[in-house]
Amino acid sequence: MDKICILDMGSQYTHLIARRIREHGVYSEILPNNISIYKLKQYKPIGIVLSGGPSSVYEENSPQLAEDFFTYTISEKIPVLGICYGFHLIIHQLGGNIKSFAQKEYGKTELEILKSGKLLDSLNKREIVWMSHGDQVEIMPQGFEILARTATCPIAAYANEDLKLYGVQFHPEVVHTQKGMKIFKNFIEKIVHAEKEWNLENWIEKAIENIKQEVGLKNRVILGLSGGVDSSVVAVLLQKAIGDRLHSIFVNNGMLRKNEEIQVQKTFKHVLKFENFHYVDAEELFLEKLKNVEDPEEKRRIIGHTFIEVFEKKTIELEKRYPDIKYLAQGTIYPDRVETSVTSSASVKIKSHHNLTLPNDMTLKIVEPLKDLYKDEVRKIGLQLGLPESIVLRHPFPGPGLAVRIIGPIEKKKLDILRYADEILIDEIKKAKVYDSLWQAFCVFLPLKTVGIMGDYRTYEYICAIRVVESLDAMTANFAKLDWELLEKIGTRIINEVKGINRVVYDISNKPPSTIEYE
Ligand code: XMP
Repeated sequence: MDKICILDMGSQYTHLIARRIREHGVYSEILPNNISIYKLKQYKPIGIVLSGGPSSVYEENSPQLAEDFFTYTISEKIPVLGICYGFHLIIHQLGGNIKSFAQKEYGKTELEILKSGKLLDSLNKREIVWMSHGDQVEIMPQGFEILARTATCPIAAYANEDLKLYGVQFHPEVVHTQKGMKIFKNFIEKIVHAEKEWNLENWIEKAIENIKQEVGLKNRVILGLSGGVDSSVVAVLLQKAIGDRLHSIFVNNGMLRKNEEIQVQKTFKHVLKFENFHYVDAEELFLEKLKNVEDPEEKRRIIGHTFIEVFEKKTIELEKRYPDIKYLAQGTIYPDRVETSVTSSASVKIKSHHNLTLPNDMTLKIVEPLKDLYKDEVRKIGLQLGLPESIVLRHPFPGPGLAVRIIGPIEKKKLDILRYADEILIDEIKKAKVYDSLWQAFCVFLPLKTVGIMGDYRTYEYICAIRVVESLDAMTANFAKLDWELLEKIGTRIINEVKGINRVVYDISNKPPSTIEYE
């Protein structure tokens, strides 16, 4: 299959570039910027994109391409598109000059197209693009032509048709660049001439075939099913591939949303007819271990470890009955596996994610059918596989569940209050038909009591915070500007219906600097 490789220079948008290319039907993969040419050749890219990044080309330790990078792409006639830092790097490594500007240019800018060439073909003379840079290209080596400029940036896009090198100073991958998708389309169709073979229908057939081959005719597979999109899609793929030789384990950690354990069991046992679906109710154990624990990281650690303990115990029990259990399936998706420079540094370490991390000493072999997919692709596959929309289109839910939405120690009483409030919020958001346009909507329990009045009585109860955010990938998020009347309805219902809450506040923080979850 034709493939375009993206070399990651540290931009927060690197995964977005890969997704845009796939949206055009061409498979894309992200690779580290210092990859050797020997290794790069093994991927057989038919086009290469150099991402943006926060560095400046003259900085010490800034990402640079292998010395023989251009010898390789030019001799093999592989087109290269540089974006932002990648745009500078092409010029810098081929002997041109980059100029540093202390003043950053940031935000929407008007681009004036001087010559469209293949890259900017069918764009208007003036287009709105998204800029975020300090440095600029000042002098280009011979053979490069200026395609576009802005009021403050004389070289904002270039092409060298002979060497098949192209670049844009702005970010075509973000939605604010209005013709960004068209630029990728031009690169893919007019420059790379890629075959559009990345298609999810074929993917399902192939994935099922691969699982059959990998697992064989006799072996059994264990899966930790959370009821979230990824593990549910893995479950259905495996069921189609190996039928009842799949054993799904669903652990109720006591931190689930209202009736979630009932819904997940109903969907898999009754609707999808999973034969070997194992429900483990470990609510009490989790509550006991979390008793009086206040520190958010400690809560996450305990939940992660307790999950492993429970899962392992159940697996050992099943292995005794079914010695053919040889595989462990996981819902790992592409961004979990391919850490870009951004995800591998700051962001992941802000909070430790303990989902289905399993001990290293498990001797089971791992099956990860979704390992090359993005979340939106997993969702499309889930729908094609016939999973209900209530699972496929559900908002993300953290592995530690409601534990990270209760500030301070966790108690069953607080969990029940939170579950009830959360159910009302989601009900109203769905009725208002805004659920699908939001990244997440949830309630948070604040263990602070304030005074209120109900009828003739003074009340002294807890506060519930409402967090509703819009986002593309959770790396950044904005609080949703919900309709006031909708917010009023939600607040009124929660205060009237949920015993224990007499005040509701709306969270107006964006990420960064705040995170989406509270702990
Ligand atoms: P933050 O709070 O870091 O969250 O802005 C970003 C996204 O990640 C989700 N999240 C988690 N997901 N396990 C998960 O599977 C976790 O431990 C976890 N913590 C946060 C969060 O809901 C948001 O979508």
